[in-house]
Amino acid sequence: MTAPRQLFVTTALPYANGNFHIGHIMEYIQADIWVRFQRMQGNAVNFVGADDTHGAPIMIAAEKAGKTPQQFVADIAAGRKQYLDGFHISFDNWHSTDAPENHELARQIYCDLRDRADGSLIETKTIEQFFDPEKNMFLPDRYIKGECPKCHSKDQYGDNCENCGAVYAPTDLINPFSTLSGARPELKNSEHFFFKLSDPRCVEFLEKWTQDGKLQPEVANKVKEWFSVRTNPDGSTSEGLGDWDISRDAPYFGVEIPDAPGKYFYVWLDAPVGYLASLKNLLDKRSVIDPQSPSYEAYMANLNLEQYHFIGKDIVTFHTLFWPAMLHFSGRKAPTNIFVHGFLTVNNGEKMSKSRGTGLDPLKYLSLGMNPEWLRYYLAAKLSARNEDIDFNADDFMARVNSDLVGKYINIASRAAGFLAKKFDHKLGAISDDGRQLISLISSQKESMAELYETRDFGKVLRETMLLADRVNVYVDANKPWELAKKEGMEARLHDVCTVCIEAFRLLTIYLKPVLPQLAAGVEQFLKTAPFTIQDAATQLGAGHGIGDYVHLMQRVDSKQLDALFEVINMPLAVELIASIAIKSGVKAAPEAASDAKSEIITIDDFAKIDLRIAKIVNCEAVEGSTKLLRLTLDVGEVDDAGQAKTRNVFSGVASSYAPADLIGKHTVMVANLAPRKMKFGMSDGMVLAASAADEKAQPGIYVLEPMVGALPGMRVK
Ligand code: 2FM
Ligand code: ZN
Repeated sequence: MTAPRQLFVTTALPYANGNFHIGHIMEYIQADIWVRFQRMQGNAVNFVGADDTHGAPIMIAAEKAGKTPQQFVADIAAGRKQYLDGFHISFDNWHSTDAPENHELARQIYCDLRDRADGSLIETKTIEQFFDPEKNMFLPDRYIKGECPKCHSKDQYGDNCENCGAVYAPTDLINPFSTLSGARPELKNSEHFFFKLSDPRCVEFLEKWTQDGKLQPEVANKVKEWFSVRTNPDGSTSEGLGDWDISRDAPYFGVEIPDAPGKYFYVWLDAPVGYLASLKNLLDKRSVIDPQSPSYEAYMANLNLEQYHFIGKDIVTFHTLFWPAMLHFSGRKAPTNIFVHGFLTVNNGEKMSKSRGTGLDPLKYLSLGMNPEWLRYYLAAKLSARNEDIDFNADDFMARVNSDLVGKYINIASRAAGFLAKKFDHKLGAISDDGRQLISLISSQKESMAELYETRDFGKVLRETMLLADRVNVYVDANKPWELAKKEGMEARLHDVCTVCIEAFRLLTIYLKPVLPQLAAGVEQFLKTAPFTIQDAATQLGAGHGIGDYVHLMQRVDSKQLDALFEVINMPLAVELIASIAIKSGVKAAPEAASDAKSEIITIDDFAKIDLRIAKIVNCEAVEGSTKLLRLTLDVGEVDDAGQAKTRNVFSGVASSYAPADLIGKHTVMVANLAPRKMKFGMSDGMVLAASAADEKAQPGIYVLEPMVGALPGMRVK
């Protein structure tokens, strides 16, 4: 047995100025699949993320929102969990670049670069920059506009002209103005700090680090160009790497530079340090619980530690030049590798398609009851080790999930499990030669599947797995268990064939588990096995092993869901979807409603009858005598006759997914005009909306709806 590898894995840190979009989710799914595979191999992984909180844009957005930057980024951070949990992303920690660990680490790294015994890699230079006299701040290029010096079109940005494509410096603009105040910016000198990337020590190290074969070939080739030629802000070109301007003047939301009052690190200096800060925060928390667990310093000192960053193709410079150099020349270990992916377009990047809308909103996807593992499967099927753009195509999505995943794979289990339960007391039987060959064939792919996962060729893993599923289906069709079941004297063969199906299904599930973790957990339960590892593909359950009852493991995609997702949804359909979500919420005591989720068309007037309101969960308690219900106290912005604020008592069947403390203080949506219902535990005065899969046995989990930041108790949802 080789010792487990120690892996430290991150995804790029998202700016804390907006919710996640589908591009973030794709990156997290890609990294999560790889991490889950590594864990299935027995390797030890710390997988962390954080919000990238600093910089002028966030400072300005916070000011516009009337919040402090700290409050602004905290509000964004509060919304992260629902996405990460929703898409089964298994981060060990989520932190913030504004946390004390990051301030401290960024300053340490800077001081280590500055104070190098063989000569400092930090120097200061005076630069001339535009200053907004009204806002009293230096202006980043993106906040300066003016007339293009070439084609004279008005209202062009400070770095290039959208009309004629000219590239220039902001100082070249005619009649420049600040987009923050409208004032005419003044040129002012300021001392800036630079990281001397042009220093021969840096150039030599980076040429080696980027060209030693670890980077994806297309990435390494692109990076190579930067060593020979680079484009300056004014459009001219220079030889080799330029020094990197790492400081910004106050006011700035960021980390103050040691020994330089009023100077802050440029956001991109402390952002990647946030990877380390999140790891440190995780390890510090673990040490409190378990004194044996390694300190951050001990963990990082391990020479065998491997460090990987999953990133998009737009931030390659930062991760292949600045970041490795910062780490190496501050006396730390540079990353083991950087895994670069392309962009995700949706429906071929169609702009405002009438039929399918534009984007793919991840939360909307979840709120429509769409299975997160469909998306994981689809994206995995499209991903490879290459830095290529991929497209989410709604029809292709439906075809791959319905015909491959459900049609080819899930059906293998559903076709065999019933016979095993009914006729063989849930027990597996002996396998004869033809079945054994099939099982050996599937099992023999263990190493190649592992290699494909290791090299992030997830699309190929899924193609190979579906080819194996095809082989199993050929076997099923040749043996026709449904006919064997009707024939006298064929019990042994029926038992044999069904056993082969279940053993094969188990092996395919092992190969799919990094992509479909929740489904695999359902299969482990159904087959009554311990959690699968990749190594388990070398073994079989064996004759006599007892399995459980088959519960349907995955639904098909309904095209109506895709229509709703891409907004070709008419009002009645929206109501139907809301109703089907509502039916699955707290008032489980109304089974007659639950079984009646019909697609009956209603009018907008019908919809208007439902009084949906934002409610704040001011208290939440367990209900004695019920494992399903929680008692919620809701503030719906109502007052009693005496003008005093009053609350409502609502029972909600969400105890399987939430502890009371998870819900207290959250906002949600309730049906406020539902007739009060007398329940065993008291009166329930309304209903909270929550989402769950149509088949809750196969896909457990119920998710209380939460509005975007800004919604207040009593607001009408319409
Ligand atoms: O491009 C971005 O969204 C940056 N916030 C990524 C930062 S990655 C890391 F360096 F923190
Ligand atoms: Zn122009």
